[in-house]
Order: sequence, then structure tokens, then C-alpha cells
Amino acid sequence: MTRTVLSAFILCASLVALSCQPLTRSSTREDTARPQPQAPRAEEPASAGDSQDSGRKSEGKFEFDMTLGTSQAIDPFGPTPHEVVAEMIALAEVRKDDVVYDLGSGDGRIPIAAAKQAGARGVGIELRPELVEQSRKTVAEAGVADRVRFIHNDFFKCDFSDATAILVYLYPRTLLPLRPKLLAELKPGTRIVAYRYGIEGWPRDKEQPVKHTSGGTLYMWVVPANVSGTWRASLVREGRRTWWGGRQATSFTLHLQQTYQQVRGKARIGSQELPLDDIKLKADTLSFSLKLPGGEPLALVGKVKGDRVQGVATASPSGAASAERAWQAVRVRGTKASLDPGLPPIPVTEPTDGGRPPFEQQPPPDSSSN
Ligand SMILES: C[S@@+](CC[C@H](N)C(=O)[O-])C[C@H]1O[C@@H](n2cnc3c(N)ncnc32)[C@H](O)[C@@H]1O
Repeated sequence: MTRTVLSAFILCASLVALSCQPLTRSSTREDTARPQPQAPRAEEPASAGDSQDSGRKSEGKFEFDMTLGTSQAIDPFGPTPHEVVAEMIALAEVRKDDVVYDLGSGDGRIPIAAAKQAGARGVGIELRPELVEQSRKTVAEAGVADRVRFIHNDFFKCDFSDATAILVYLYPRTLLPLRPKLLAELKPGTRIVAYRYGIEGWPRDKEQPVKHTSGGTLYMWVVPANVSGTWRASLVREGRRTWWGGRQATSFTLHLQQTYQQVRGKARIGSQELPLDDIKLKADTLSFSLKLPGGEPLALVGKVKGDRVQGVATASPSGAASAERAWQAVRVRGTKASLDPGLPPIPVTEPTDGGRPPFEQQPPPDSSSN
């Protein structure tokens, strides 16, 4: 009996350990260690002594300041107006089967709204313990506690790769060091929506003005598959059969370079270099056109799954009235590269808008629409 209870405890402990590294050595919180690569962190801003954070730190309320690995000013809490949260959920097209994360979840309104509005599962990660406590109370009152959970931790230390949508409201100085982690760890197709501030350097897939009177802009990105590297590809040849009746294939090599969702590349057959035109990558769908020697231009579309691509080629870009032929490619081991070009110096100052920190310009939290 004791052994069964002990095994169950160990199993539970290892399951919760799957989410984040511990926040403090003395922490009693339930989300404990899973080794994560540390993202680069920003420097302590010169103005940190004036910030809302350090004021609260001096009251001894924060336990996270010495846990970050390197010091960084933590964005102040500024809630996204509920109406804007609804717009973010709509822009990300959140559905019932989504797992929605809010990195820096404040009072929990985004994951709670994603569960209430779209029936999704929600996860909030928040450093300020009193906000986590408040979120857990609100989620119980909102009746969606079975679908939403809150993690008291630093999101840089957490594994949120099970997300299918990420909705955030963070300063650019925090979004920027998050960029390599988002690109490396999220699944292709994961939607990211950010309120007011974009992710420096990463071209957005969409942006739209906020309809609510608070103004500002919503930015959206779709995480691309990583197609960088050298691929050994083969394309089934139309009409040609081997003497035993099998399909004949043309082999070629693809050399792809990728930054964010932008891909450049060329193909090679033997010593002959061939251009790839109209290369597009949306989530896990790669498409380009290629003219093989002596053949007509082909439009190739393929689904990327890790180090493999499988798809079809058609003789005209529209594919109309042309037979489809299969093509596939396998990435040469060790040729995959990072999608992030490397971080520029991270801005340390808080963005200002009309001379005041923009988070302070938000309307006060309105719990009535929760
Ligand atoms: C501007 S508020 C946004 C709150 C909420 N997402 C919303 O939109 O209403 C930013 C929040 O991120 C939290 N935060 C900042 N850096 C964090 C980090 N590294 N890990 C966890 N939370 C963080 C802050 O404590 C703050 O509550």
C-alpha cells in the first residue's frame, strides 16, 4: 500500500516537473524543475530603481528577483482590456482544441477568456505570486478551472511547446529575448498574437488595428516549420516506368536558407544549379516552383514533418488539368540551422507613449466582464 502511494507520488511529481524550472530554491510551488536552455536575458535597466517592480521588490513581496539567472527588469502588470482580449482570441482563431498560453498572464484574464469564449484549454505563466493567486480565484469563480491552470514561474524557464496559440502583452525588451525560444520550441502552425508591441525583427504575418477605444495594434505570427539545410529530394517521373513496372524518379538536392518564415534556396541536379522560384512557407506547408532540365515548370507543394517533406508536384502553378506527381525529401543530418538570426542589443528602457509608460495608460482591471 505504502509503496503504491509512493509510486503514485513519484509519478505525479515527475509529471508536474515537465513544465518549468524551479522558481526559487526555497520555493514551495508545485511546478518544479525541467532543465531548459536559458534564453539570453536583457541587462538591468539603468532606470530600474524607479520602476514599479523595484518599488514592490523593496517591500519584500517578490521572490523572483534573484532567481532569473541574470537580472532583468520585469514588465509591470498592465491588464489588456477585456474587449481587446476578445479581439486577440478572434484574431488567433482560437478553437476548442487549442492550448492557449499567456506568457506573463497578470490577473489571468486571457487564458480564462480563451476557455470561456472558445472552449479552449488555457495556461497562464506569471511571476508575481499575488497575481497567480488572484488568477486561481478568478478561474474558480468563472467556472473553467477544469480547463485553465496557472503556473507561478518565469516563462523563460518554462516549456510551453504544447501551445497551439500564444497571446501576450509584453514590452519589446521582453518579447525580443523570447524570439529565439518561440522560433525554436513552438510547433509549426502555432499562432502568436501580441497586443501593442511587435517582436523586433520577426516580420509579422498579419496586423490589425484594435477596435476598442484603447487603440493600438494587434500583431500576429504563424510559427514556421524549420526547412533550413540540405535536402535530398526525389520526384516521380510522369509516364516513365522501370523494367519491373515501378515508377522512375528524378533525384535532386535542395539547399534552403531560412530566417523566420522567409526561405531562399536553389536546387541542384548533378553539377547543374537550378533556381527555386516563388518559395513560400506557411506553418508546415512549403511550396516553390522548379524547372527541371528539358521539362516544363513544376509547382511543388509539400508538408514538412521534422526532417522529411512529402508532397505533390503539378505541371502548372494552378495544378489545373495536370496530373500530380509525388515528391519527397529528407534533410541531410547536421544541416538544419536556427531560424533566428541572432539578437541585437536588447532595449533596456521601457517604451513610452506620450511620456508615460504605456501599461499605466490602460484602464483599471474590470473584473465585471470576466
Ligand atoms: C503587461 S502585463 C500583461 C498581463 C496580461 N497578460 C494581460 O494582458 O492582461 C505583463 C505581465 O507579465 C509578467 N511577466 C513579465 N515578465 C515575466 C516573466 N519572465 N515570467 C512570467 N511573467 C512575467 C508581469 O508580472 C505582468 O503581470
